[in-house]
Amino acid sequence: MDDPRLYSWPDLPLAVVIGAGGMGLAVAKRLGQHARLLIADLDAERLESVKSDLEAGGYWIQTAPVDVTDQASVTSFASTVEQMGGFDSLAHVAGLSPSMANWQTVMSVNLRGPALMAEKLLPHANRGSAAVFISSLAGHMATFNPEVGKILADPLADDLIEQLDRALGAEMNSTLSYLLSKKALINLCQRLAASWGREAARINSVSPGLIATPMGALEFENQPSKFDLLEKTPIKRQGNVHEICDAVEFLLSPKASFISGTDLLVDGGINAALKFAQ
Ligand SMILES: NC(=O)c1ccc[n+]([C@@H]2O[C@H](COP(=O)([O-])OP(=O)(O)OC[C@H]3O[C@@H](n4cnc5c(N)ncnc54)[C@H](O)[C@@H]3O)[C@@H](O)[C@H]2O)c1
Repeated sequence: MDDPRLYSWPDLPLAVVIGAGGMGLAVAKRLGQHARLLIADLDAERLESVKSDLEAGGYWIQTAPVDVTDQASVTSFASTVEQMGGFDSLAHVAGLSPSMANWQTVMSVNLRGPALMAEKLLPHANRGSAAVFISSLAGHMATFNPEVGKILADPLADDLIEQLDRALGAEMNSTLSYLLSKKALINLCQRLAASWGREAARINSVSPGLIATPMGALEFENQPSKFDLLEKTPIKRQGNVHEICDAVEFLLSPKASFISGTDLLVDGGINAALKFAQ
């Protein structure tokens, strides 16, 4: 029955989730327990099926197709957020793993995309709101020289890709691009903490380790060396999306009201184990 009286929107905070894949959908379901949801993704078909699934499950959900790498698309998405009264929680989950695209696209989606979203959505952050950007354990493994660091510190530069191409040349590939983009994303969230704080908003990142999702499975198939990482993980297994949701939910909640500009590793201890390997 389509009677609008049955479907009026509740007076709940707005949670914006960018990315409706394995992890994004789990995060949306968690945040949507106590919020209206606005979910965005490049894949319009996926959005449609997520919308009908979640509506059937009793969630209040609106969707919007968006390409996070495209300024016009992100600007128009920001107007949608404004029309919905601004956001209270933002989870930016969309990203590409090394096997999914060439290095240029991996860099654009994983770094330029979040940077554009952070810039365009900040004006629509309600007081006391919070954002979490999903980075990766890979970001903790990346190292780069000062020249590359300087380029990565300006992710909105029109010639970001050309500059990286000039600086890294043949050395660059999708795997390195993933490492660098995720490290630069952690740095971006730290750098933006001050400007977000001026708007009474918080911003943090979460770095998942090996997580059981279709993306994680694809990388195990294409990079068998990941089994070595799994073996060395102190908690001897992959994580699951619910464990990432717990971290995201915590950082977005009032329980994290004094936490901003930091990264939370949710990796079963592998980063620490590698650092202090005996
Ligand atoms: N799964 C893991 O093991 C793991 C580990 C560490 C970090 N991560 C990170 O977690 C995040 C989500 O992973 P997932 O398992 O949900 O992946 P996924 O592939 O299931 O979902 C990613 C989503 O991003 C969307 N997307 C891609 N390009 C986009 C664009 N230009 N604009 C808008 N949306 C776009 C895709 O359509 C897809 O729905 C990624 O940022 C990934 O790097 C995953």
